[in-house]
Amino acid sequence: MAISVLPKRDELKVVDGRLFIDGKWVDSSGGEMWTHVNPAANEEVGRFAIATAGDVDRAVKAARRAFDEGPWPAMKARERKAILQHLVGLLYQHKDELNELQVLDNALPISFSSMYQLSAEIAADVFDHHAGWIDKITGDTIPPYTGADIQALTFREPVGVVAAIIPWNAPIFLFAQKVAPALATGCTMVMKPSEFATLSVLRLTELLEEAGLPPGVFNLVPGPGPTTGEALITHELIDKITFTGSRAVGQHILEVSGKGIKRVSLELGGKSASLNFADAPSIDMAAMMAMGMVSMGLSGQGCVCQTRALVESSIYDDFINAAQGLTGMVTFGDPFDPEVTSGPIINPRQLEKVMGYIESGKEQGARLVTGGDRPAGDLAAGNFVNPTLFADVDNQMKIAREEIFGPVLSAIPFTDEDEAIRIANDSPYGLGAGVFTTDIKRAFRVSKALRAGTVGVNDYSIMPNTPFGGYKQSGLGREGGFGSIEAFTELKTVFIGLS
Ligand code: NAI
Ligand code: MG
Repeated sequence: MAISVLPKRDELKVVDGRLFIDGKWVDSSGGEMWTHVNPAANEEVGRFAIATAGDVDRAVKAARRAFDEGPWPAMKARERKAILQHLVGLLYQHKDELNELQVLDNALPISFSSMYQLSAEIAADVFDHHAGWIDKITGDTIPPYTGADIQALTFREPVGVVAAIIPWNAPIFLFAQKVAPALATGCTMVMKPSEFATLSVLRLTELLEEAGLPPGVFNLVPGPGPTTGEALITHELIDKITFTGSRAVGQHILEVSGKGIKRVSLELGGKSASLNFADAPSIDMAAMMAMGMVSMGLSGQGCVCQTRALVESSIYDDFINAAQGLTGMVTFGDPFDPEVTSGPIINPRQLEKVMGYIESGKEQGARLVTGGDRPAGDLAAGNFVNPTLFADVDNQMKIAREEIFGPVLSAIPFTDEDEAIRIANDSPYGLGAGVFTTDIKRAFRVSKALRAGTVGVNDYSIMPNTPFGGYKQSGLGREGGFGSIEAFTELKTVFIGLS
């Protein structure tokens, strides 16, 4: 049966989206609209106004005023906390609706959209975690070093007006990762969601409004990256940019932010490795996790996916068999069907890119074990790609070096621990890694040797209160825990003469 998300769109009563500037919903000054296409069947499901450079300017100035003159940065901890806690309640109350909007955005199957780590529930917990910091953001008193009778103190203060740009793969969680710490520290902000996942962010913005945020503290400017996004990152009244997305746009942000020495936090991509040793607790489980990470849920469209499986030679054949077996559990279809396990590629341009990587893997001599093609029949209307496993991959091949963002796993054999570590670290990226072993000493040794922001030993998680971020070209800075408080604050030193 042909897939259609339109019945759900009607049930959710999706209306044309607008801009949210200075506490008001307004139309775009240019009158242009973006038509959102859901990738499961490439159906048009909704429209929203595109913010022009003039609209972005108005939004930034509203945020500037709210920071320089408004109550938000100076508000007492209890009041600011109450507003964020109100939002936490609203997120729980509306979690099913938000999770469904996320499916309308990016066709992440509902079974995954309602799973804790991608859902409105973790977003609520991210706000809850950061609301808890509000009354604990403190400075130091520093003892006099020598000479004069003087007391040194530090004040930790909000960094100012923040520009936040997020991608389409996890709009609800990434909204929270940026907005919660910015608001908790007393910053004001302008957010540009991805043009491929704006519906859920429009609803999140309504909930922020309902939570009682003063006008101008949070502004939303929907629109494409090269126009709306560019106007935002180059605006001279922005103090800090926080971005999640591709390495190319991250590099561009670093370049343009040099002009005003803007503060920058970047969460970019990855080419994470799992290191599968012969003493893994279960070779089958390790292989299924590796293949599952790239073929279930978002079909490999996640920055932390472990897309290089490094496998000890003695278990290599068993690992490949088990990974191939997992693909039999992959089910495509209507993303609102709870039985569906895996989603399509976000848009035709990305689909073409993924298929190009698969071609390059074949051309460069990797062994295609399974997949590499697209499902036919009713599924052909969407951007689905069959789960793809390449074996005998050389770490210098394109499919081992570049982020594919699709359902492709590259398996690479190794002979000993040193070689595994060397291959894992031989990457421009350093976001995550996995280690599968029952040897406790090896678990520590390898975790310490890996140049990656997060290492999962026999398991992996994302939590609201742990730091998350990348080494090397995977990013700059950390989100979650005290790392995000640091990322949205400046430290001021004050000397008080005592004599
Ligand atoms: P992208 O980096 O172009 O988009 C991410 C966000 O940046 C979107 O909101 C987009 O509108 C915005 N943007 C794009 N150009 C901009 C500009 N000049 N100024 C300001 N904002 C701009 O990512 P895209 O094109 O959606 O995906 C391309 C590749 O990026 C993927 O194949 C994947 O490798 C990587 N990616 C990584 C993500 C991650 O989670 N780290 C998320 C999305 C993409
Ligand atoms: Mg792009």
